[in-house]
Amino acid sequence: MACAQLPLGAGVDDGDPLTGFVALGVLLAAVVGVEDPPQPARARIATAAVTAYRVVSREGTRRRYPVAPTGRNPRLYPGPMSDSRIPVVLDVDTGVDDACALLLAGLHPGLDLRAVTCVGGNAPLADVVRNTLTVLEAAGRSDVPVSAGSARPLLEHPVDARHVHGSDGMADLGMPLPRLTPDPRHAVDLLKAVIEASPQPLTLVPLAPMTNVALLARMHPQAFAQLGRIVFMGGGAQVSNATAAAEFNVFHDPEAAALVLDACVEHGVPVTMYGLDVFYAPLVSRADAARLRQAGTPVGALAGGLIDFMCRRFESDTATIGDAGAVASLLLPEAVGTTRVPVRVELMGSWTRGRTIVDLRDWSGDMDHDPHGLAPAMVDVALSIDGPAVANLWLTTVMGAGR
Ligand code: BDR
Ligand code: CA
Repeated sequence: MACAQLPLGAGVDDGDPLTGFVALGVLLAAVVGVEDPPQPARARIATAAVTAYRVVSREGTRRRYPVAPTGRNPRLYPGPMSDSRIPVVLDVDTGVDDACALLLAGLHPGLDLRAVTCVGGNAPLADVVRNTLTVLEAAGRSDVPVSAGSARPLLEHPVDARHVHGSDGMADLGMPLPRLTPDPRHAVDLLKAVIEASPQPLTLVPLAPMTNVALLARMHPQAFAQLGRIVFMGGGAQVSNATAAAEFNVFHDPEAAALVLDACVEHGVPVTMYGLDVFYAPLVSRADAARLRQAGTPVGALAGGLIDFMCRRFESDTATIGDAGAVASLLLPEAVGTTRVPVRVELMGSWTRGRTIVDLRDWSGDMDHDPHGLAPAMVDVALSIDGPAVANLWLTTVMGAGR
């Protein structure tokens, strides 16, 4: 396990000149405040979101709970729209289950997929970009811009998960190289551009280490502040995978995760954590995979191959759709039960680095008696899920594609 020795030059000298340049920019921005502060209106929303507390006394304990601002939240309810689709951007490390998520986001009529940004994670960045383009090509979504972002975490060394996802990072299906090519912009620039161009606040769905998102928050805070919502796959209240304590995405870049949660507090961006407590519940079977393949469509062949691979990999008759559940939660909010609680990311710890500390104590939020003295992010943490409903949404969406 790597320790936080703060190698400040690491981002500059890692063989990835662009990341190094960006990392340097982040440091400069953090130190001298390169970009203008957020607009006053945004600042007021942020302040309201952070400081509005309800004080309750029970059994001698003062409890302070954040309360929702009165009235409609303009971020979540931007007003009447002619297009009722939810505008989304995915940040991915494709990845078998990221591929499942891309299929859902690219094919479901309730979502308006505006862009996809890539980050090193499950596989090295170049593989992630190729896999992402392969999926969007199969889905017929050549209109969606795809950009490469960070090849490595902010401080940690890159550690991929090809032992889980296959040597190409996406199930080794032997698919031809995509004809689509990536957008030349860096992922952070693409994120900024699509956020600023959108008439409605976007939902950002990070399904990977949050390096790109953290860089966006530091380099373009005004754009970050315009986000309607972040729904990220990562962490876990009770469940872990990369280590006994931590989930892969947060473990891979804990500084980025901590920074993003912090930025959500600062800019008043609502944030939902779709973590490992619910991640494994939406299951698709080998029989479903066979039916997908029999559909005779490019999407069916790809989706069936992905599920089959994971069933074989884990010697099981079923496989989770993983990251796709986070996308499905936008479409089926009633299927995912969340609780708003404080969440911090462990950045130290010999054996716990990268763990999300989800404060489920019934007096959580009592800042008067918090020995850390720092207000944590209040996060809507997914703790329960209707797995079959979510799996069924994915299955029907990909099954129906291309017919
Ligand atoms: C997460 O890690 C990756 O392997 C998956 O794509 C998912 O985003 C689960 O811990
Ligand atoms: Ca992922």
